[in-house]
Amino acid sequence: MSIANAGRVLFGRTPKLTRNLAQISSLKFYSSQMPKYEFVKTEKVGENQNIAVITLDRMKGLNLLNNTVINEVNDAVFKFDKDDSVSVLILTGSEKAFAAGADVKDMQVMDYSQAVKEEFLESWTAISKTRKPLIGAVNGYALGGGCELALMCDIIYAGEKAQFAQPEITIGTMPGAGGTQRLTRNMGLSKAMEMVLTGNYMNAVEAEKAGLVSKIFPPDQLLAETIKLAEKIASHSPLIISMAKKSVHIAYETTLKQGLQFERTSFYGTFATADRKEGMTAFVEKRAPKYINE
Ligand code: CAA
Repeated sequence: MSIANAGRVLFGRTPKLTRNLAQISSLKFYSSQMPKYEFVKTEKVGENQNIAVITLDRMKGLNLLNNTVINEVNDAVFKFDKDDSVSVLILTGSEKAFAAGADVKDMQVMDYSQAVKEEFLESWTAISKTRKPLIGAVNGYALGGGCELALMCDIIYAGEKAQFAQPEITIGTMPGAGGTQRLTRNMGLSKAMEMVLTGNYMNAVEAEKAGLVSKIFPPDQLLAETIKLAEKIASHSPLIISMAKKSVHIAYETTLKQGLQFERTSFYGTFATADRKEGMTAFVEKRAPKYINE
């Protein structure tokens, strides 16, 4: 399937996004699978080479975001999401910044009709649709769109010097890639409102306390610890992992009653899989399970 078609399947008929993905398909391939991106590095790591690390690399590690960067991230994320040899994805940046937000110089010259016509930021939230677990490894600044990118990850591990903020209010605008919604769901009204209305920074210790990040580490150990977490997750059945991930996300999108119903239906669904049978049989036989993703 072409990338443009993959875009249609993944995101529906969004002409702009489809066009952007089609542009990326013209990028040069340096391996059989991953294109050579301008602002994103990709590699497979881990003992079984089944963990994909996607690293933002723009403007000496400041990682300012624009449509090109986001389209490259989306392309890498969804290629790995479809790659059967990959179980878990990690999105990271530099020690200075995960991503310091949108390029304000680009936005300064944008007007209302352009933002609407181009569906500005529409493609910036695409990575929230991954089927596989996506872990954010955040060192340094995660500001504005960078904070929102981190919030779209299923789990966030952070370096001790990480700083999270939605500073849009300080430049006369507001979050537009999910910040007001995901922050509020993650840490409640008061803390989210304070961040959005002040633009204040939240450091790593506060972010862990608020439930925004799971764990914090010294900056130079962050990626290794994140890979360790990814490998632990990857030791389980990929099929069941994706079912469980979906069920957790449903908690954001439905009432408790509907969410509980979805969870129960998914739980019953695991009994139709070979991996559920293998997992329980392996436990009873006191051996390691061998999952086949079916
Ligand atoms: N847009 C455009 N240029 C930026 C920028 C941004 N978001 N952030 C930094 N820069 C530029 C600076 O203007 C500076 O350029 P010059 O060298 O030409 O002067 C260069 O990058 C380096 O920046 P600093 O000298 O400020 O570096 P620092 O290490 O002292 O500070 C920083 C780093 C804390 C990230 C600081 O630059 C800063 O606060 N930047 C603004 C961050 C921000 O507001 N982000 C949110 C943007 S809005 C958004 O993201 C909404 C959305 O998704 C649509």
